[in-house]
Amino acid sequence: MKPILKIDNLRKIYHTPKEEILALDNFSYTLQEGEFVSIVGPSGCGKSTILSILSDLMKPSDGTIELQEGKKIGYMLQQDCLFDFRTILDNCLLGLEIKKELTEENKAYVIHLLETYGLKDFMYHYPENLSGGMRQRVV
Ligand SMILES: Nc1ncnc2c1ncn2[C@@H]1O[C@H](COP(=O)(O)OP(=O)(O)O)[C@@H](O)[C@H]1O
Ligand SMILES: [Mg+2]
Repeated sequence: MKPILKIDNLRKIYHTPKEEILALDNFSYTLQEGEFVSIVGPSGCGKSTILSILSDLMKPSDGTIELQEGKKIGYMLQQDCLFDFRTILDNCLLGLEIKKELTEENKAYVIHLLETYGLKDFMYHYPENLSGGMRQRVV
């Protein structure tokens, strides 16, 4: 069966004014349907670099990624990056606001999603009033 994700010889070099940092070299992995994978390693070994490349936040220096048609990749950041001065609902609407796609219909869908994730009662609260797990669900 065709794998969900095929990563071949991924390489990433970060360029800073002082030096070049080889963060990833020759990283390959094939993910099959139903697999549950953890990437484990010491701090600085390149875990976040892999995830940033897979979610298209960053281009690799070399290598290829083939993703099964119709699939999308996202990941939960360690820091939730919610704006403390906006309510939970307003944090959730920010992307739509920026893209000028904030319609009544889209807003209703966002509220529906907040309900699905058990956050509707908190939509007019500010991030500081939520637990770490709740904040991550907002993201
Ligand atoms: N934006 C960046 N600029 C320069 N070097 C970076 C940058 N991000 C990560 N690195 C370096 O790349 C290596 C891998 O980092 P990272 O992927 O964040 O590791 P991990 O998530 O496993 O802790 C580290 O040596 C780190 O210092
Ligand atoms: Mg990391």
